[in-house]
Amino acid sequence: MKIVFIGDIVGSVGRKALKNIMPRLKQLHPHAVFIANGENAAAGKGITQAIAKEIYEMGIQAITMGNHTWDQKEIFDFIDRDDKMVRPANFPPGTPGKGHSVIKVKDQELLIINLQGRTFLPPIDCPFRKVDEILEADRKKHKFVFVDFHAEATSEKIAMGWHLDGKVSAVVGTHTHVQTNDNRVLPQGTAYVTDVGMVGPRDGILGVERNAVLQKFKTQLPVRFITDEGKWHFHAVVIELNDQTGLSKGINLIRYDEDQVFMD
Ligand SMILES: [Fe+2]
Ligand SMILES: [Fe+2]
Repeated sequence: MKIVFIGDIVGSVGRKALKNIMPRLKQLHPHAVFIANGENAAAGKGITQAIAKEIYEMGIQAITMGNHTWDQKEIFDFIDRDDKMVRPANFPPGTPGKGHSVIKVKDQELLIINLQGRTFLPPIDCPFRKVDEILEADRKKHKFVFVDFHAEATSEKIAMGWHLDGKVSAVVGTHTHVQTNDNRVLPQGTAYVTDVGMVGPRDGILGVERNAVLQKFKTQLPVRFITDEGKWHFHAVVIELNDQTGLSKGINLIRYDEDQVFMD
């Protein structure tokens, strides 16, 4: 099995980038399963049903979320019915949606788990204990397990990588929007990267219009953040799994820029 995972899609610029790059990625990785993080897909804040549909139609087979999951109130109308959308599993019990989901990949099954960190983020349930619980219940059933750990602190993400080494196929980080260069397969066979990076406005600050962010840093006064326009950049990873063991053979970074499309 091969997984292409695409980092946080930010706003209309991010969706434009995805539309632009998907044909090329499908050509390069014709048998891969495509997963993307969609927590910022609606103008930086959450996701709508129409936007989720647009992303699925581009060839994305599952969408993971994060701390922006509830930003669009219409999500409550459809998240329970969308089996391909996975929000952080360690949200309080009873929260709408699901924290893990199984998708069919040809004759195989892939268990997708989304978790959210709690260092410099709201104090939700323990992501380490939560993932143990899910694996305990589902481990025997699923050889291929993909984890999107949506977290702020690099230390918490690295800790999760070590916690799950040998227990899942891959642990990749999202949320900080900047691709890190520490992609590797850990000693027990789990592919890891601290952050996949974002898909969206290149010349803002993490996808936000930069003058507002600069103003905030310089004056400390309240400012209104808006999602940036302009050119895009695109970040993803491709993970090759061993079909016998479900563990990883390799993880490579993917990076495209609107002006330098063929950097790989
Ligand atoms: Fe994000
Ligand atoms: Fe986030």
